[in-house]
Amino acid sequence: VSAVLDVHPAPAATAIAATTAPAPRARADDAADAPVVDVVLVGARGQVGSALRALLAREAADLPRRAGLRLRLRAAFDRRGLAEDPAGLDPLAPAFAPRREGDWPALRARLQAGGAPTLLLDCTASDAIADEVPALLAAGIGVVAANKRANARRHADWAALQALARRHRVPWRYETTAGAAIPVLGPLRALRVRGERVLRLEGVLSGSLSHVLGRLQAGARFSDAVLEARALGLTEPDPREDLGGQDLARKLLVLAREAGFAIEPEDVRVRPLAALDDRPLAAALAALPRDDAGWAEWAARAAAAGRRLVALARVDASGGEVGVVALDADDPLARLAPGENRLRVVTEFQHAPPLLLGGPGAGPQVTAAGVLGDALAAARALLDARGG
Ligand SMILES: NC(=O)c1ccc[n+]([C@@H]2O[C@H](COP(=O)([O-])OP(=O)(O)OC[C@H]3O[C@@H](n4cnc5c(N)ncnc54)[C@H](OP(=O)(O)O)[C@@H]3O)[C@@H](O)[C@H]2O)c1
Repeated sequence: VSAVLDVHPAPAATAIAATTAPAPRARADDAADAPVVDVVLVGARGQVGSALRALLAREAADLPRRAGLRLRLRAAFDRRGLAEDPAGLDPLAPAFAPRREGDWPALRARLQAGGAPTLLLDCTASDAIADEVPALLAAGIGVVAANKRANARRHADWAALQALARRHRVPWRYETTAGAAIPVLGPLRALRVRGERVLRLEGVLSGSLSHVLGRLQAGARFSDAVLEARALGLTEPDPREDLGGQDLARKLLVLAREAGFAIEPEDVRVRPLAALDDRPLAAALAALPRDDAGWAEWAARAAAAGRRLVALARVDASGGEVGVVALDADDPLARLAPGENRLRVVTEFQHAPPLLLGGPGAGPQVTAAGVLGDALAAARALLDARGG
């Protein structure tokens, strides 16, 4: 596939540019008639939240024509500030007031009492926001999360959220929690629902670690590659979550459950990339260069043996594991650009060859695009459930 793309990108792009007519703008009556779904954005000034606000602003005028609905940014907040306007905020410049004790619970009560179709978009990495999901779903408020935490707890918690969403006919979507905007969870859910047994999942699922190892094997120092991934917005808010393997383990739990494995966190063996202690973040990052020589040596040994280092996550009936391994350089999971993700899915029917899903695995913009896709599907589901 990559060979074809390497040879032909320019002609393909030219052909598309030459034959695609500009999209017609939305007509005023489309926008006026389109049903409205209120949106509450949490993590509004983070990397994903900011990119999402920019996208909401860019797409607002055309959504009635393309999606048959309007998304109205009713409220936006983070730990520092909260903005609310029932008539809709300007996504590019919400007027944040400093947070006050009880402001979010009061807003949540207003949303519940108001009864308008409402979605909460969780663009944090916060356990406190993940804790809110059950009550929101039970109150008929749909939830879209880029935050993995609600789905990476006990299997019973994962199953309870699925059941709550079904019982209350309310959307609960989290496609970007594994593979960013690459559709991976939808296809796995479809396999599970149609009864096609998934035997094994293995993949490069961390855009940040894929970037770090890709840069390392292009000659960069390990510590520099980590800082670079962080500067590009590819790491978790706390990059120790990436280096310690916990973020990858959470993704594996989310994917495995979607594919039908009733797996618990302790069933995933985690091999960290760096020995991290309880030091503050800046000190932990400053200590990374002590690992540079070891990583350079491993990368050289792997290259000499025709192998490449990848941060692999795998699960089958015997359990899961995450950590760096040296794969044969010809393996599709080893031939990736820095930042790329790829998932190999082996099912009872698809094994020779297995199903391969891939694309860019991180980045605020692609993640925001994925969250918007989830939000539109969730908004449509909310309206359909109300017969609107
Ligand atoms: N970046 C990516 O490429 C990517 C890809 C896929 C998924 N994700 C997921 O997207 C989420 C956000 O990532 P990010 O890179 O945008 O992180 P970020 O830049 O650190 O932003 C996190 C945001 O969450 C807010 N926040 C944290 N705890 C909160 C709380 N209790 N209540 C309200 N707001 C809270 C922060 O507010 P304050 O600034 O006020 O603390 C900040 O606005 C994470 O779950 C991440 O795993 C990210």
